[in-house]
Formats: sequence, C-alpha cells, structure tokens
Amino acid sequence: MKVLIHDDAESAIEHTAQLIAARLRRQPDAVLGLATGGTMEAVYARLIAAHRAGEVSFAKARSFNLDEYVGLPPDHPMSYWAYMRQHLFDHVDMAPGAAALPRGDAADPETEAASYEEAIVAAGDIGLQLLGLGANGHIGFNEPTSSLASLTRIKTLTRGTREANARYFDDPAEVPRLAITMGIGTILRADEVLLLAYGAGKADAAAAMIEGPLSAACPASALQMHRKATVVLDQAAAAKL
Ligand code: GLP
Repeated sequence: MKVLIHDDAESAIEHTAQLIAARLRRQPDAVLGLATGGTMEAVYARLIAAHRAGEVSFAKARSFNLDEYVGLPPDHPMSYWAYMRQHLFDHVDMAPGAAALPRGDAADPETEAASYEEAIVAAGDIGLQLLGLGANGHIGFNEPTSSLASLTRIKTLTRGTREANARYFDDPAEVPRLAITMGIGTILRADEVLLLAYGAGKADAAAAMIEGPLSAACPASALQMHRKATVVLDQAAAAKL
C-alpha cells in the first residue's frame, strides 16, 4: 500500500484528481470504479475543470459506481445516480449508457446485485477503483464485519453511517436502511485502487486501515492485500499513524 500524506485536503484532492486524469490519458477506455460522498465532490469538480480545459476526456471510458441506496429510483434527488449526474456525468463527455450504478428501485434487489456483479466481470473488472473511507472503516457500503471476500450484495447500514449520511436528507428517518454495494472481493479485483480521505474524522479509520490488523472489523484494511493500492491523506486524516 502506497500512502501519500499531503499538507492539506486541497492538495490531497488535487493529487487524487491528477491520478485519475493520468489513468484516463494512459488508457482512454479505462473502466472506472466511482465513489460518492462528500469527499469526492471536490475531486469531480477538478476533473470537470480538467475536462473543460481539454486535459482529460471520458468519451471512451466506462464506469461502475460502488453503491446505491435500496428503494431510491435514479431520479430521486438523494439517489447516488442523482449525485453522479450533478457532480460529474452532466458535465463531462461520457457516452450515453457508459455509466452504471445499481438500480436502487429494482423489484428484486438481490437479483439486481448479482447482475451488477456479472456486468463488472463482463467488462473485464474495474481498472481504477476510486474509494472514500467511512469513519467506521467502511468502503463502498461494506460495513464492519463484511466478508473480505464478499461480492455485490445487499448490506444493512449501521446507525452511524445512517447518521453520517442524514445531512443530505430533509428528514433523518428518510435515510434508507439498506444499500446495494460492490463487495470487498469485487473491489480487490480492481487493477488499481485509489482511496482518498481527509479531515480528523477519518483519522481512526485511516490508522486502522493502514496499521491495524487485516480484519473485517475494518473493511478498508482489506486494501493491505491489494497489489496496487494508493491511499491519499491530508495531515489531519494521517494524525493517528
Ligand atoms: C458513504 C459512501 C462511501 C463513502 C463514505 C464516506 O456512505 N457509501 O462510498 O466513501 O460513506 O463518505 P464521505 O466522503 O461523505 O465522508
């Protein structure tokens, strides 16, 4: 695991965006694994700026997002589909149909999860997987105790995760209880993994991920087993290393 510690969040975000742009320049038809959450908003803003400056194109790329809330259709304002349209897809040149997220409103979420996993395999697996870090060490929505070999499936969100994500909902009771998420095994099959975390709220999880034991208690610690994992932190998130 390569750990890069930046002085501040701004510079960690910039570096992360540059690594994604570099992969797209090297491999224009890359299969990207994309993440949501507050952490990624600034990364996508930089990629949009780079696209507008003619420095990066998504025209030949494909993408699979990590996760989606069960029960929310793509046009629901709090769905991760809506997040991705707002923060990236509507502003870059991705081809129609090239971006995929699990359907939160699928009649049978378990079948949806299995088909999503199959679609990732059929695409040749993820080339570059972008990840944020939950304060409890989750990646995607793989909450603590997730099997380290898990594939895309339904997960129950912890109370802490629902509380952390309640800031986006008008009423905290509206935060879904279930999500479809790529599994840890799915993520580990990616050719390259890039995790970004900044701020003091991520310091415990970052320390457990990097220096703790390999354990389902900290799903992100699974990245210790990946051959090509890069973790980008700011000083605050690295404070407990
Ligand atoms: C969310 C997402 C994760 C994200 C993490 C951190 O619940 N499912 O993909 O990385 O939690 O979110 P944030 O970046 O808002 O701190």
